[in-house]
Amino acid sequence: MNVAHAEFVVSNTRVDHCPKSKLPEYAFIGRSNVGKSSLINMLCNRKRLAKTSSRPGKTQLINHFLINNKWHLVDLPGYGYARASKTQKKTFQKFITDYFNKRKELVSAFLLIDIRHEPQPPDLDFMRWLGENYIPFTIVFTKADKIKEREIEKKVSDYLEKLKEDWESLPKYFITSSEKRLGRDELLGYIHEINESIPKF
Ligand code: GTP
Ligand code: MG
Repeated sequence: MNVAHAEFVVSNTRVDHCPKSKLPEYAFIGRSNVGKSSLINMLCNRKRLAKTSSRPGKTQLINHFLINNKWHLVDLPGYGYARASKTQKKTFQKFITDYFNKRKELVSAFLLIDIRHEPQPPDLDFMRWLGENYIPFTIVFTKADKIKEREIEKKVSDYLEKLKEDWESLPKYFITSSEKRLGRDELLGYIHEINESIPKF
């Protein structure tokens, strides 16, 4: 799929203030600094559409981007941002869970995992929560450029092995690098396939 047009629509903390147009929507979630905003920029062929930073905690709102006038990409704040205050964390948690529970347009979440790290409780807990709330998700391993190519497969299979302890069937996954533009065609192709399968009304 070609991204011919990508534009920022709105930022907010309230799911009832999200765009009213009934377009299919895909949300990027994961720990702070995992590369959510960078991945959105890479998919959209833009350097600064979504704001990125080497300091965790950059994205603090629900950000909607309209793609090809047909669907939305959503950039969310990261969970597990250590430097946020307790109140801040609670507020984030509240509007993120509200977003996932109430946003009817959400087709699938993309849960981002830094490929270098061992499975971590916040990610495993969040996956469990998504499962319990019947929210479909796909795993996106990020920053694949940071490890040697021959280590990629082993890292992924170790991660999936850990997931088997919790899950009967494993989620679909993609391996990406925003730096090297790896996984772009695959991810966009997947979104395109889903969009095409959604009945138009
Ligand atoms: P928050 O908004 O704070 O939750 O973070 P985020 O998940 O949106 O991460 P962001 O895209 O801002 O990226 C965080 C840092 O990781 C930045 O310094 C990026 O340049 C870097 N980064 C993101 N993706 C990649 C990647 O694929 N490869 C490499 N090497 N660095 C990356
Ligand atoms: Mg961000």
